[in-house]
Amino acid sequence: MGEDSTTAEHEVKSSASTTIFSTFGKKDTKEIEIVKFDSVDYSHPSGVAALVNVSLSITRGEFVAVLGTNGAGKSTLVRHINGLLKPTHGTVSVFGESTRERTSAFLSRGVGMVFQNANNQLFAQTVRQELEFALKNFGFDRQTIQDRVEWALNTFSLKEYVDKPPMELSGGEKKRLCIALVLAWDPEILILDEPTVGQDYEQKALLGQIIMKLLGEGKTVMVVTHDVEFIWPLQPRVILMSQGRIIADGSSQEILGNPAVLSKGDVLPPQLVELSRLLGWKNYYPKDVFEAESRIIEQRYNIRVPDRKET
Ligand SMILES: Nc1ncnc2c1ncn2[C@@H]1O[C@H](COP(=O)(O)OP(=O)(O)OP(=O)(O)O)[C@@H](O)[C@H]1O
Ligand SMILES: [Mg+2]
Repeated sequence: MGEDSTTAEHEVKSSASTTIFSTFGKKDTKEIEIVKFDSVDYSHPSGVAALVNVSLSITRGEFVAVLGTNGAGKSTLVRHINGLLKPTHGTVSVFGESTRERTSAFLSRGVGMVFQNANNQLFAQTVRQELEFALKNFGFDRQTIQDRVEWALNTFSLKEYVDKPPMELSGGEKKRLCIALVLAWDPEILILDEPTVGQDYEQKALLGQIIMKLLGEGKTVMVVTHDVEFIWPLQPRVILMSQGRIIADGSSQEILGNPAVLSKGDVLPPQLVELSRLLGWKNYYPKDVFEAESRIIEQRYNIRVPDRKET
């Protein structure tokens, strides 16, 4: 938020009543295209071509993971969605409007972004102030601010740090605080840039649960990640990038289950896809170890193992 916040106040306060967000909040607009890239190129001022001819459409309620090697253009791509970057050529539309027409401060109310580097997002004196800042800027009332800050502190186990300067938190705690403060303002689209970096097993599991809950509420979630083991059980749509281009776009099974496609983006498949290949399971990729175990027992003893949900 640090990058967006200075101009946020007056622009974002009016956003609660503005039509684009209220239109997109309605249930009957679920099938609507919420993010659209139309032949987008982006060159950094240094001349580096970070996006090349990117076209992309995301529907409200979708769960999308963006994969690719270092420098593939993933962060550059998602920074176009909250308007932090504007295309050099082409158009990015969010909530049906070109991002050229809107500031990043305005778009951030609907597009919550957790930055790759937590130090770019945190600036307040204490964890509580950090959590309150955007909520105040977005014009939430005092009671709602209090409730959401409490929710964030409890959900992300940050209570003991409430009066500490955010810069004194560990790397993983800072990242958690960034996720908490963005979720607290309840954006329609949530973008997480490398959310699992530095997170222990428990926090990763919590994050997975929170993503699934948000999707259940109809939110749109994008995760930029190198962590294929984190996303595999969640089975998002996968966009694979290389050298500023989208080189593959499909289901987790289609992309992560296809080593030939993955190798074009220099990404390794999840362990369970590897296991499936080693066991000779053609076109069958278990989503978790329990599914794999059932399949192994079924094959060995020629019996059907009931789904865990059935037992
Ligand atoms: N501020 C900048 N100025 C100039 N070039 C930049 C800048 N930020 C990124 N780049 C370049 O743009 C390209 C895409 O960078 P980007 O940060 O989008 O990659 P990424 O896929 O997110 O990589 P990583 O996995 O390391 O986070 C790279 O070649 C990078 O060096
Ligand atoms: Mg990045």
